[in-house]
Amino acid sequence: MSLPSAVTTPVSPARVAIDLGTRSYAITIGAGVLDQPGTYADLPRASQALIVSNTTVAPLYAQRVRTALAAHYPQVHVLALPDGEAYKTWETLQLIFDALLSHGCDRKTVLFALGGGVVGDMTGFAAASFMRGVPFVQIPTTLLAQVDSSVGGKTGINHPLGKNMVGAFYQPHRVVCDLDTLQTLPPRELSAGLAEIIKYGPIADRVFLDWIEAHLPDLRSCEPRAMAYAVQRSCEIKAWVVSQDEREAGLRAILNFGHTFGHAIEAGMGYGAWLHGEAVGCGMVMAARLSAALGLVDTGFVDRLVRLVAAAGLPVRGPVLDISDNAGRYLELMRLDKKAHAGAITFVLIDGPGRAVMREAPEDVVRGVIDACCAA
Ligand code: NAD
Ligand code: GLY
Repeated sequence: MSLPSAVTTPVSPARVAIDLGTRSYAITIGAGVLDQPGTYADLPRASQALIVSNTTVAPLYAQRVRTALAAHYPQVHVLALPDGEAYKTWETLQLIFDALLSHGCDRKTVLFALGGGVVGDMTGFAAASFMRGVPFVQIPTTLLAQVDSSVGGKTGINHPLGKNMVGAFYQPHRVVCDLDTLQTLPPRELSAGLAEIIKYGPIADRVFLDWIEAHLPDLRSCEPRAMAYAVQRSCEIKAWVVSQDEREAGLRAILNFGHTFGHAIEAGMGYGAWLHGEAVGCGMVMAARLSAALGLVDTGFVDRLVRLVAAAGLPVRGPVLDISDNAGRYLELMRLDKKAHAGAITFVLIDGPGRAVMREAPEDVVRGVIDACCAA
């Protein structure tokens, strides 16, 4: 199955379909869609809905979503979780179950995840497990969540020993990307989202990679047409990958380009010190250098990616995680990666722009790349 070509003129609101048989759903992308009752018109009906958000996003958007949902659900509750990656935990998940049970919610209750990837991942996991599964809708409000985490049904929480280690594949009924919400996003978070947009170029679409390079200033300034196209194309690519490999038996792993190094950075620095997108940006540079060290791409490609990641406002040098054996610490953390088997780390590497491959790599080569990539 080949990647469908890009729609060059974004229509607003755009609709991207994710084809998963009985679990198929649509991603709605547009400005102002979150406020409109019609956006939610064909969702499952219930007597109650719960909007799960956090203390930052709820004051900005929850009342507007609540008003729109009130046209369809007799009771709409709002729960504001503490904000931050450090709260992507069992304890916070429990707050969602507490709210559902204290409101007397039932197995028809629909959950709405209003926020970034942290809220989306936790709400999805709560939906997967509350009464063995209730419907949920993603309303992503960060760029990262709009182009990646809200799509594809990966849900979960962190464990102190590893990121996203406890969770479930559980697809939402709908994804609603309101591009207007990006106007309130801090620039650092916008850059973090750009990391996941950039990711799609090297792994799947060299034409999109060229487009991103040409339009990066527009994306950093949130120019509406450029942003609409970037979100739409990213969702198209993700939908294409997930439709073929929902549970990551193979192909879907390419979406983890940069994540093996990135997850080690996040865990090694302590969750929240580096944003997920920052760690992925730097991780892509490290994975590209590893690709070059293994002879898959030339150094020109690595330089190109370094320029792009830096221009997106993301770090291109890895942090030192352990002064006495930095590479050893990275390797230790990367062996906890979900793609590792029996201690062998599988990397997503680039085999030419727009083409990803999965490979193991000799430890001395990986150590050399880490040494070359990390700030002294
Ligand atoms: P986040 O959810 O922590 O949001 C970033 C910050 O922006 C938070 O402080 C949040 O409150 C704030 N915020 C959100 N929307 C805002 C808005 N419109 N205006 C102002 N502030 C806003 O981080 P994220 O980058 O969205 O997501 C990262 C998480 O997503 C990580 O936990 C990562 O593991 C996960 N993730 C999951 C998948 C997946 O497939 N499920 C994919 C990629 C990342
Ligand atoms: N973000 C990786 C995935 O959804 O598979």
